[in-house]
Amino acid sequence: MLSGKTILIGITGGIAAYKICELIRQLKKSNANVKVICTPNALNFVTKLTLQNLSQNDVAVEEFNIKEWKPEHISLADEADIMLIAPATANTISKIAYGIADNLLTSVACAFSKKMIIAPAMNCNMWNNDAVKNNIKTLRSRGIEILEPENGFLACGYFGKGRLCSIKKIFDAVIENIKYSQLLSGKKVVITSGGTIEDIDPVRYISNYSSGKMGFALANSAKQMGAEVVLITTKDFDAPYKIIKVKSALDMQNALDYEFSTSDIIIMAAAVADYRVKEYSDQKRKKTSNQTITLELVENPDILKGLCEKRQNSQKKPLIIGFCAESENLIENAKTKISKKGCDYLIANDISRTDIGFGSENNEVTILDKNGGMKRLEKASKSVIARQILEYIDE
Ligand code: C5P
Repeated sequence: MLSGKTILIGITGGIAAYKICELIRQLKKSNANVKVICTPNALNFVTKLTLQNLSQNDVAVEEFNIKEWKPEHISLADEADIMLIAPATANTISKIAYGIADNLLTSVACAFSKKMIIAPAMNCNMWNNDAVKNNIKTLRSRGIEILEPENGFLACGYFGKGRLCSIKKIFDAVIENIKYSQLLSGKKVVITSGGTIEDIDPVRYISNYSSGKMGFALANSAKQMGAEVVLITTKDFDAPYKIIKVKSALDMQNALDYEFSTSDIIIMAAAVADYRVKEYSDQKRKKTSNQTITLELVENPDILKGLCEKRQNSQKKPLIIGFCAESENLIENAKTKISKKGCDYLIANDISRTDIGFGSENNEVTILDKNGGMKRLEKASKSVIARQILEYIDE
């Protein structure tokens, strides 16, 4: 199940540290490569020698290793498929929430861009502290999975919520996430995002309010699910996959044409301008004495429709997904649009609502398929919606 996978376990200074020895044994039995990082405090509860023997790897504690040319926090982050921090103390949780990197474990956590699972364990009053609660909320909002502590008798003598969850639960979460990280492996997913920019002259343009966040969330989720990702976008994003920065609808069409024949899934989340100016002016247009001026526009190609038509005569037949933003009669308009465009799925967005959609961190959408099926996704963060969309189209 886990062969070829590297599980990076971060152990912090809590009494439950000794329980992680059993977890390492189970992960090794499932053929995982297990790497362990301890905070200096963790070594008060469990020895380096025990962890080294169980993991059959060096245990990292020191941040600066004279023998390595590459900083250890970067190489450990790069080689791991998943990072698990268990037990995670209130101290380490709070540092990670704020991006503090003052030891090897917190530095690796700061440099880690793949899936992270955190299993907290602490005194129940610490768990109920508002600062810790807020930091847990921050970590969750970044897509980090929190395996909540359980109620029970605590090592400090209290009875309450704070005990590390069971080793079985942690083991199952690792397996589940590794499976998830392979859902799209071997597939190339091309995603567009952002509003296109149609220049009028060197200083002015026509565009729209699309922030590109939904497409970015889709690209991140596809990457987490193991896909080779290409994001074609009008916005500035930084991510560990190929990003093609474009401006106009025509640029976006060119980039898509280039990627088409090697794509397995194409998702058009971009808000493409329907029109561009007929004549771009090389010089800044001067103000005239007229009270009104007319800007002549010509239609842009419907890229999505064009891709669906191209697919009919192509050997490569990628799955094609479109988006539609409607301010009224959402489902009715979306149904007409999916057959007009010829795509496999259409993700319908209601832009009359101010709490979701354009610029917002959240979304609520309905997925329509070409056979008339429909699935509504309840309001959630764009990263949760992105994951649900990808899981649905991959079924
Ligand atoms: O027709 P409408 O603009 O509502 O369609 C939205 C969908 O079509 C989106 O997926 C968008 O990326 C795509 N589109 C396109 N080319 C256009 C306009 C929209 O590919 N010129």
